[in-house]
Amino acid sequence: MTHRLHFSTSSLKKKEQNRLSDFLQFLSKETNHFLGYPISREFDYSPLYPFLNIPLNNVGDPFLDSRYHANTHQYEREVIAFFSTLLHAKKNAVWGYVTNGGTEGNMYGIYLAREIHPDGLLYYSEATHYSVPKILRMVHARSIMIKSQPNGEMDYQDLAATLRIHADVPAIIFANIGTTMTGAIDDIRKINKIIKDLRIKKYYIHCDAALSGMILPFVNNPPDFDFASGIDSISISGHKMIGSPIPCGLVLAKKTHVDRIARAVEYIGTLDTTVTGSRNGITPLFLWYAIHCKGKEGFTKICQHCFSIADYAIKRFAEINIKAWRNPHSITVVFPKQSEDVLDKWQIATQKEYAHIVAMPHVSLHQIDQFIDDLNQDIEQQVT
Ligand SMILES: Cc1ncc(COP(=O)(O)O)c(C=O)c1O
Repeated sequence: MTHRLHFSTSSLKKKEQNRLSDFLQFLSKETNHFLGYPISREFDYSPLYPFLNIPLNNVGDPFLDSRYHANTHQYEREVIAFFSTLLHAKKNAVWGYVTNGGTEGNMYGIYLAREIHPDGLLYYSEATHYSVPKILRMVHARSIMIKSQPNGEMDYQDLAATLRIHADVPAIIFANIGTTMTGAIDDIRKINKIIKDLRIKKYYIHCDAALSGMILPFVNNPPDFDFASGIDSISISGHKMIGSPIPCGLVLAKKTHVDRIARAVEYIGTLDTTVTGSRNGITPLFLWYAIHCKGKEGFTKICQHCFSIADYAIKRFAEINIKAWRNPHSITVVFPKQSEDVLDKWQIATQKEYAHIVAMPHVSLHQIDQFIDDLNQDIEQQVT
């Protein structure tokens, strides 16, 4: 007699089996009309599915041994090593881990910054992702919102004027490397100059590179955004450009900062250096797999494809007299808000008077054509 409990799909009643297969069909159909969010549909991790039968858990610091052995720390370390090189970190100067997504990475950056400068004031622009003010409320951080320019980039005059008033307080700069709505990149060189000109000695720069962190390393002459420009930490999403069925991301930070927050925990037999206790063990494998299958060359090609789709979309918009635009190095195409029916069908995000499509790796010329046809038909119907 076996003492193992086993439930196969046949344990499910026919009704529930049918419900699941209908739901799968619905999801597959919906993801064919998926233009408005920075999430890639382009991935295949099926060779890794056997790992889903293991209770993987990456609890603790990925760079240390843990009492829980069913982890993928060795792969997680390789993913972090790949990104350390990509982001021009000095050898052994940067630490990181695989997060649940961009939000957790931003929370980690803010956590480190505040541990180092508990009395610091955090500066972030109006165009910052909605999760950041929420994180600031959670940690009771003192913060000031800086104006944004019309393209979504931080208003440096406002930053300089605000920093000048508080020049005696440590400055924590939350910089956007690709804003959510317009893909605008805050100029780290200008920010560094403002800090230097104001002789602010204590400061910390965190970069939110949720989407563009996996684009800028693969373009010619990218703007400053990584460890080569003196930043302290950076957060990148994994399910955006790389693609993953489970949300994930990465955070990398200067090791000296992380050493300040590390605490030994006997229960897990390792250091507690991450935000959550239990951590996803399959997503580091997904990222590792994608890095090895695609490599830098593959990611460069993917980014080139995305830029060409974005430019094609701008051209097609122009043909129906809609002015669409994108920021430099961005695959986010911004256009004036259109009829709700078309936006809903294509799952297009809006904010104030704008809407955007994001030319993610799965977006094809054909989908852009279909979307523009829908838009055109809708406009013509409104005229008649
Ligand atoms: C600029 C920016 N930061 C942070 C996030 C949050 O990332 P995630 O959804 O991976 O938590 C997003 C998501 O779209 C984003 O665009």
